[in-house]
Amino acid sequence: MAQTLTLLGIESSCDDTAAAVVRHAPGHPPEILSNEVFGQTDLHADFGGVVPEIAARAHAEKLDVMVEAALATAGLTLADMDAIAVTAGPGLIGGVMSGVMCAKGLAAGSGKPLVGVNHLAGHALTPRLTDQLEFPYLILLVSGGHCQFLIAHSVTEFQRLGGTIDDAPGEAFDKVAKLIGLPQPGGPSIEQAAKNGDSQSHKLPRPLLDREGYDMSFSGLKTAALRTRDALVAEQGGLHPQDQANLSASFQAAVTDVLTEKTRRALTQYLTLEPKAPAIAVAGGVAANQAIRDSLSELAEQHGVRFTAPPLKLCTDNAAMIAWAGIEQYRLGLIDDMTLTARPRWPLDAAAPAMLGSGKKGAKA
Ligand code: KG4
Ligand code: ZN
Repeated sequence: MAQTLTLLGIESSCDDTAAAVVRHAPGHPPEILSNEVFGQTDLHADFGGVVPEIAARAHAEKLDVMVEAALATAGLTLADMDAIAVTAGPGLIGGVMSGVMCAKGLAAGSGKPLVGVNHLAGHALTPRLTDQLEFPYLILLVSGGHCQFLIAHSVTEFQRLGGTIDDAPGEAFDKVAKLIGLPQPGGPSIEQAAKNGDSQSHKLPRPLLDREGYDMSFSGLKTAALRTRDALVAEQGGLHPQDQANLSASFQAAVTDVLTEKTRRALTQYLTLEPKAPAIAVAGGVAANQAIRDSLSELAEQHGVRFTAPPLKLCTDNAAMIAWAGIEQYRLGLIDDMTLTARPRWPLDAAAPAMLGSGKKGAKA
């Protein structure tokens, strides 16, 4: 009988400093004993994006505070942990290094094993933490920094079918919100404004739908939204609230169509594996969007496939997913030592071609 495991998880790869404690008794659903997140949004607000140096400094200042808070909320001490899991990449290197150094210090001081976790594996394994999905399942990671389809075959084997070749959808939501005068973060403001808008009012493109495969592009859609705004401003001298609503609805519909159609294709590929318990999961901040969730859920239903989307707190960056991935790795004997290094780029599927460019999180994985 495998042992009950309790792990501390640490996450600092972008603009959230997070620590959590997760416990798993075999045969029972895992328990999140604490999940503490310090978001840095306010620190970067004046700069129009995440400033890596500010992020790294803030992580270094807040990591120990968050670790203490996570242990206190769980009612446990470091001595009660079986191991310490930490994001070792991919992400903004200063932040990842801060987390790895903190975890090494804790491991050295307490004599506990260290488990280095790929941040993307943290997201991709979350459906097993929240819904106990069985392998293989299809997952769409869609946030401000990520956008990719993966088939999760096992704790260590992920097959990337495709992803964005430029912006992540969350980035596009944020940029379009900014250019039509809606507050940040853009996703929730666009979703709110879209409720009063007509999604047919502006014809925006559905990039790459005419091309085979699973790759996506959102930067052309953003430019089309910019042109539409400029045309309205030239014609009327500004944007009315109804224009903001109509553009929001049209933009959201375009993103939803692209994600849904590409998911349909990915699903076809996934179903050729004849999974025992077929499931599609979606994770990441954009997975909070109800229109996108509804559309993906409907697609899954049409194919008789289970659909799961974690609660928002576990969609966005957090350390519970790192502690959980750490538990999964620990059970397989995948334990690190003091040679663990921070990696800015760390694709989950090493065989897939490298993704181009960089986003909110630094180099695309
Ligand atoms: O996962 P996350 O917290 O951080 C990253 O890993 O990037 O995702 C944040 C992104 C932001 O771009 C935000 O605008 C987007 O998720 N987002 C949404 C919604 N809520 C957050 N996008 C569309 N609709 C939403 N309701
Ligand atoms: Zn993330």
